[in-house]
Amino acid sequence: MSILIKNIKQLLQVHETNVTIVKGDAMKQLPILENAYLYIENDTIIEYGTMDNCEGFEPETIIDATGKVVLPSWCDSHTHLVYSGNRVGEFVDRINGLSYEDIAKKGGGILNSAKTLQNTSEDIIYEQSLNRLNDLIAMGTGAIEIKTGYGLTVEAELKMLRVINRLKRESLIKVTPTLLAAHAVPEEYKTNKAAYLKLITDELIPKAAKLKITKYIDVFCEKGYFNIEETERILKAAEVYSLVPKIHVNQFNILGGVALGVNYNAKSVDHLELLNKEDIKALKGSETMPVALPNCSYFLGIPYTPARDIIDSGLPLAIASDFNPGSAPSGNMSFVVSTACIKLRLTPEEAINAATINGAYAMGISNMYGSITRGKKANVLITKPLNDYRDIPYYFAHNPIEQVIVNGQLWP
Ligand code: NIG
Ligand code: FE
Repeated sequence: MSILIKNIKQLLQVHETNVTIVKGDAMKQLPILENAYLYIENDTIIEYGTMDNCEGFEPETIIDATGKVVLPSWCDSHTHLVYSGNRVGEFVDRINGLSYEDIAKKGGGILNSAKTLQNTSEDIIYEQSLNRLNDLIAMGTGAIEIKTGYGLTVEAELKMLRVINRLKRESLIKVTPTLLAAHAVPEEYKTNKAAYLKLITDELIPKAAKLKITKYIDVFCEKGYFNIEETERILKAAEVYSLVPKIHVNQFNILGGVALGVNYNAKSVDHLELLNKEDIKALKGSETMPVALPNCSYFLGIPYTPARDIIDSGLPLAIASDFNPGSAPSGNMSFVVSTACIKLRLTPEEAINAATINGAYAMGISNMYGSITRGKKANVLITKPLNDYRDIPYYFAHNPIEQVIVNGQLWP
């Protein structure tokens, strides 16, 4: 299979050398080729250039992209896409005045989703999740991280990991699984949290590691969920099996999770609706990607991540959807890019860097995804006709995408 996309108005995120992360001021640069072509063979980007050099190709498919923009697919590094049922009742409760925390205290929230998922068969969870994943592919997601965390028993967490790994095998896009058993304390362990932690550290982590069904470990480090000591206990147990942390920190309270994550070489620290100077200091010089989740702030009406402070300190930033039934029931990454510009005050160039190359970095896959580079995976988006790429965030909540290419295949 070979595809030539020609007459591209703007080809975005073109890197001659294989860049794997973009930080600080460099995030303002988005390398662009005008009046360009892109040549793909099988699942790989083979060549690109300006139209005056577009010679010698004999592709099976030619796409004329006159007036359109082509860019790498969105890399969504933080989702909870596998779940069962929904939490629309809680959505209405919040409109009527309850907070996310009030709902959780009543046994709703994550525990509500866990109850439903535990009682749903693996095949049904898979079908529901695959439908959602296909919706996201159509909206431009080409690589995605998916967490567990609605199982909260050894069996149900493993069931979630099996579903995520089946999506990884059977879907065309790149799926990265993460074990998030420490997402909430199950009802039956309310008075004995230590026993639940022991279950995670002594039974679940060794089992998941042995089955080789996750490379990443996550913890919801937050008041009422898991404190710093408990988070560290899990990271320590996971380290024995070389599981790398990608953790939920600073959503409602600052507990010191950023520095802890950095100490354990976290691939990413995510949420960061609150952030202080110590957090920024801890991130400087580290390999850890800060990840903002603007859809969650939008949907819950909580503060937005102070992204300017992060980037203006010279740090990198990724943005992700946080797609989940409770705090962000949308996986539309084009909307995330818009919201990052409108609410986090990222420039369009910074937002596109955050949603492509830096998102890929936060999943540990930026050597193969996130830029238009020879040899990288051919996961690309062709937009509708646009004035220029800045229309992508400007026309917020519109769908800028006309055609998706996944692994070198036209999709659908
Ligand atoms: O990233 N904050 C913790 N976890 C999810 C929400 C999960 C839920 O409400 O179901 C989040 O926002
Ligand atoms: Fe999350």
